Amino acid sequence: MNWFGAAYYPEHWPRERWREDARVMAYLGINVVRIGEFSWGVVEKRPGQIDFTLLDEAIEALYSEGIRIIMGTPTAAPPSWLLKKYPGVLRMDGDRRTPVAAGRRQYCFNSPRYRIETERIVSAYVDHYGKDHRIIAWQADNEYGCHGSTLCYCRNCAGAFREWLRERYGTLDNLNQSWGTVFWSHTYGDWEEINPPKPGPVSPNPSLVLDYRRFSSDSAIEYHDIHKEIIKKSSKAPLTHNLMVNFTDIDYRKLARKIDFVSWDNYVAGEYDPDLQALNHDLMRSLKKAPFLVMEQQPGRVNWRSVNNAYPSEQLAFWIKQSVAHGAFGSLVFRYRQFPFGAEQFHGGLLNYDGTMTERARVFAETIKELRNWKIEDPQKEAAIYIDYENFWIGETDNLNGNFRLLFDSILPIYKAFRNFGYNVDFLFPGESPQSYSFVAIPSAFKLDEDFVRELLKFKGKIFITAMTAQKDQNNNIRVQKADDFQLLTGIHVVDFGGLEGPIKVSSGKNVFDCDFVAEEIEVLDGCQTVTRYIDGPFKGKPAVTVKGNCYYVGTIPDVESIKRIFLEASIERKAEGLARLLSMRSYRVILNPYPYSLRLKIGEEIHSLKQYEVKRI
Ligand code: GLA
Ligand code: ZN
Repeated sequence: MNWFGAAYYPEHWPRERWREDARVMAYLGINVVRIGEFSWGVVEKRPGQIDFTLLDEAIEALYSEGIRIIMGTPTAAPPSWLLKKYPGVLRMDGDRRTPVAAGRRQYCFNSPRYRIETERIVSAYVDHYGKDHRIIAWQADNEYGCHGSTLCYCRNCAGAFREWLRERYGTLDNLNQSWGTVFWSHTYGDWEEINPPKPGPVSPNPSLVLDYRRFSSDSAIEYHDIHKEIIKKSSKAPLTHNLMVNFTDIDYRKLARKIDFVSWDNYVAGEYDPDLQALNHDLMRSLKKAPFLVMEQQPGRVNWRSVNNAYPSEQLAFWIKQSVAHGAFGSLVFRYRQFPFGAEQFHGGLLNYDGTMTERARVFAETIKELRNWKIEDPQKEAAIYIDYENFWIGETDNLNGNFRLLFDSILPIYKAFRNFGYNVDFLFPGESPQSYSFVAIPSAFKLDEDFVRELLKFKGKIFITAMTAQKDQNNNIRVQKADDFQLLTGIHVVDFGGLEGPIKVSSGKNVFDCDFVAEEIEVLDGCQTVTRYIDGPFKGKPAVTVKGNCYYVGTIPDVESIKRIFLEASIERKAEGLARLLSMRSYRVILNPYPYSLRLKIGEEIHSLKQYEVKRI
């Protein structure tokens, strides 16, 4: 049975209410709640005085209605006494002097004291609940890296970074060579001379920045290992962590190896785009190539946007169905009941402030009834998109166009084009093989894994590569292209390049379309042909899109419409036509209408009608 429920905070409500809450939950069809992830100050009111009575009684009330528990370790919000007692645990802003603002996620991943306190409190939770059959999973901490908390500039981090570098480079000579520190007289003669790259007006060494991002991501994962080791020693319940939407500061691929299943928090972070939410679902499923959980589902209104708009309840129903269609084995709404106190007082929930049911709760109940026994299958392997988290970090160092955002400007448009053509999308990471897919896209992978290139050389399907791919080496230096596998694959040599102030046009003779951000001057080598040419911009008349065998190379950044045209040039057949979306599993297909009006979707000869927000298995 799939998991449906909500985030529940018994500590926010009087004891007398808990049984009533549990009854209402059971009435709604809830079978799982997450609790505990901000409960440190409740369980340990004063240093050392640990008391689980409140959580015990709440769990008892919930379980009396058959509701099981995902238990959060409470480290994302250290209690006030701890911060007063150990101010050294605070993360430091870029000026290395100002501890971060209060709230939550204030701690530094490398603080030895915070690690000790983490061990102590997580052990207490696991000693108490490790063998409790009512706990069906653990969530370690909460949203590592949220509120910009991945990077810290404290002394502990500087020291740990130097150790990390010693391990990676062995000698200073090697580091100096790899980073090109001869530039601007940076050559280091002592490890102590190396400092975290403080944000500021001058561009720091790009290799240093990339390594600091790697180190910071590794620090979060190393901190997670503390939770993992303690939980795994005493509990058989699976471990997860709630990952975030559009979030790239931590290498989620590495983190995913340290959890038993992926879960994530499905919020609309910017302008609403149903494909962007779907992309995040597909990415989350791809991390372990397995079903995942939506640990927090936005109920409607949130509190953290500049405008916290309301949504129709049907929108919530759509979001939950979309999650399950893309491979979620459950969904928990954040939060069960709206709370009039604290930083999130404007946040929506299933129950209103006064404890009465909202329309959302009714729609939620209907929706999960429908999805309760939906057996989750992996989508069939059709299109694959290559992602390397390190490329997001490279993209944030100096590059050709500061307006270019890898996720939104390169990965998302390709994703949208595949989805518009009706194809399922999986994401592939360095070390994985594309062989069972029909199409592979490599959107602006600044650094491209050499083994992956070798895989591509054997790949029989169609390959689409966009500008700046393989431009950098593993140290974030420009790769001086020689005759190598990438050149063999693409049949091109990039002679020169530049950022673009605005869109330019390229043409295939038949089709004219827009590209943006950067343009590369391409020299076409043996076996490679020109598909389109720039008709304006700095390289007017020169090749913009080329093909060698099954490999298309685009020397600029195409928008969604342009990618669709390139697909047509490559004779890719449309599997579906229309604004609605199609997913194809082994034993069923799903069609989805994310919009508040009815739509038709054409799949080959079939025509399907969908009502507003409808999600149908066909
Ligand atoms: C995040 C957090 C939750 C809560 C919600 C509010 O996802 O994990 O604790 O703050 O945002 O939308
Ligand atoms: Zn630190």
